[in-house]
Amino acid sequence: MAFQENFLWGSASAAYQIEGAANLDGKGDSIWDVYSRVPGNTFKDTTGEVAIDFYHKYEEDIELMREMGLKAYRFSVAWTRIMPDGRTVNPKGVEFYHNVINKLIECGITPILTIYHWDLPQALQDEYQGWESRKILADFTQYCEVLFNEYGDKVPYWVCMNEQNIFTSLGYVQKIHPPKVSDYQRFINANHIASLANASAVKRFKEMGIKGQIGASFAYSPTYSKTAAPEDVIAAENAQEIQDLLWMDVYAKGAYPKIGLKLLERLGIHIDFQDGDKELLKAGICDFMGLNYYQSATFVAPENREQTAQTGNAAQVSVVSDVARIPTDDYYVRADNEHLKMTDWNWAIDPEGLRVALRRITSRYNLPILISENGLGAYDTLTEDGRVHDDYRIAFLKAHVEAINDAIEDGCEVIGYCTWSYQDLFSWLNGYAKRYGFVYVDRDEESEKELKRYKKDSFYWYQRVIETNGENLD
Ligand code: BG6
Repeated sequence: MAFQENFLWGSASAAYQIEGAANLDGKGDSIWDVYSRVPGNTFKDTTGEVAIDFYHKYEEDIELMREMGLKAYRFSVAWTRIMPDGRTVNPKGVEFYHNVINKLIECGITPILTIYHWDLPQALQDEYQGWESRKILADFTQYCEVLFNEYGDKVPYWVCMNEQNIFTSLGYVQKIHPPKVSDYQRFINANHIASLANASAVKRFKEMGIKGQIGASFAYSPTYSKTAAPEDVIAAENAQEIQDLLWMDVYAKGAYPKIGLKLLERLGIHIDFQDGDKELLKAGICDFMGLNYYQSATFVAPENREQTAQTGNAAQVSVVSDVARIPTDDYYVRADNEHLKMTDWNWAIDPEGLRVALRRITSRYNLPILISENGLGAYDTLTEDGRVHDDYRIAFLKAHVEAINDAIEDGCEVIGYCTWSYQDLFSWLNGYAKRYGFVYVDRDEESEKELKRYKKDSFYWYQRVIETNGENLD
């Protein structure tokens, strides 16, 4: 296999999805704390109030990571634990992440720190509408400075924004994340400010001389054309411009894609460029591309929309958007790919798509890539003797590891692979039913039970993969 000697075999999580302790030790409310408390916003009204209680169980959890031989752990910091109101430092919150990082290092695990995984301080949302105001640039940069000062000498890899494309589009177009609105221009405005915030953080990181590397994690579903009909090919190209390059170009080149901007302009959507914005984006180019890969995305031209079909049962088990039409429907429409099987949540299973994603990033940007998320959300069954036989997850991950190997052989530089997720955790729109972890956490929507941890079969599988640096995938 082609994996370099120090390849980061890792796994990932996010603060709100694991920590719990929502208001403990001075933590303030984030927009997700507030949003998930409103009935109807999440699946079966689940919240991350307790989540899987990583806040109290982090030592036990990290010991399990050590037993597995994990090389890297990607976790996010809750802004509201560090700064409950978005601005005032809370020493207890700062201390918590020192403890987590120290424990990881003690266990020989490289910490990968995500700065922003969607949990904006509610105070800033109330004061100036969060990402819709440029006032956030100063607050976000100050938050980053605190993190760089505190953890800069211990953390070698930093992810600034996690899936900026997802939290902005689900929050401002699809209406299924806070602030739950559907307005394409507001989405583009908030997104532009988030891009500036990302650039500002990267710029400060460099100015402060932090030794590590910093990037952003992009939720990339490489686009396919459903057919070889030229209009479908253009539709897929348009989707790539608007759904992918609008972010990846900004992270890697410090500028928006020319065609993507033109396509938006034709819809009457504009980016509010102000003095200094273009320079700031240029000063905020990332060191690596963080890639969150779950599936590819297939498109047809609007006039061929009858080729789309709805399959699967996602609607029964998650919160889904009720927004019927969005402006980009004029350019492309999502379609099924009959060559691919689907997960229980109707996501296309496409390991080769990961190879496509890695190759496209390499061709366009020539940057090192950290795969910061990839995994299978599935129903798991805990047997009476405390086992979980998740051979379906092993098959999924194995095929994706093989695809990474192929991409490396194709010439891509891949630093590491973080599966999503290490333990089962709270899924924003799917409660606790959709499980991703190597470690089963015994809780469900109805009860937290004792939050006991059980190693799944995939735990032992990944342990062998790590031990053999990817040689033994069986
Ligand atoms: C990514 C996020 O979008 O995918 C994670 O960064 C999320 O936070 C993961 O949990 C899986 O999504 P879902 O909806 O299946 O939980």
